Amino acid sequence: MELPIPAALMPRHVAIIMDGNGRWAKAHGMPRAWGHRQGVVALEPIISLCGAWGIEALTLFAFSTENWARPKDEVAQLMGLIVEFFNKKIDELDQKGVCIRMLGDLAGVPQVQRETARQAMERTKNNAGLKLNIALNYGGRQEIVRAAQRLAAKCASGEMTPEDIGETAFEGELYTSGLPMVDLLIRTSGEERLSNFLLYQCAYAEFVFVKENWPDFSPAVFAAALDAYARRDRRFGKV
Ligand code: FPP
Repeated sequence: MELPIPAALMPRHVAIIMDGNGRWAKAHGMPRAWGHRQGVVALEPIISLCGAWGIEALTLFAFSTENWARPKDEVAQLMGLIVEFFNKKIDELDQKGVCIRMLGDLAGVPQVQRETARQAMERTKNNAGLKLNIALNYGGRQEIVRAAQRLAAKCASGEMTPEDIGETAFEGELYTSGLPMVDLLIRTSGEERLSNFLLYQCAYAEFVFVKENWPDFSPAVFAAALDAYARRDRRFGKV
């Protein structure tokens, strides 16, 4: 598929809230887990296109710190899909030069997910292609509080002083350390909320909300979202 917008206008960092899997499944008379499974199917071409279109980073909201409150079997199914995704796709992603990073508190996820994710990160850490970030057990407030704690600990140990804390130092303690800030945030299913995703990193992001549920998020819908983004006048607080 050809570039939907000029390369110079491509966002460097796209973040996606893949919403509406449950509603999609219900509309098809299927269990919610089927919606999540079809969500992974929808995801695969989007990852490839990000690489092909020269997008530097793609960040996906796979599982929030609040999602543990879902029914136990749905949590288990989502966790299962994560492992299945890595097991099935890691060779191809590695061959394409994708560099995988997990965002979130991995200590709080079951051992098999933690270990699979750790191996994927380790295997792809030197790859120079698309930076694919998967937020798992992630919360934006938790990330900010964690950064503050880490800076406080460095001050307490004498490694730095409070005067050293600026945006650069703060950003260095976020899970997204070293990544560009989010340029484009896409949320599917018609919901128009940030839901505790990348609170700091979305300070100047453009938001594009699309009506399709995530399993219906096709390359054409992605291209349309990029086109909407490219038409925005980004001023970053200036005139
Ligand atoms: C929101 O839909 C979606 C999620 C909570 C999970 C998204 C996760 C995946 C698509 C799988 C992730 C896997 C990888 C490998 C990244 P919802 O269930 O809240 O939908 P609803 O609002 O219609 O109920």
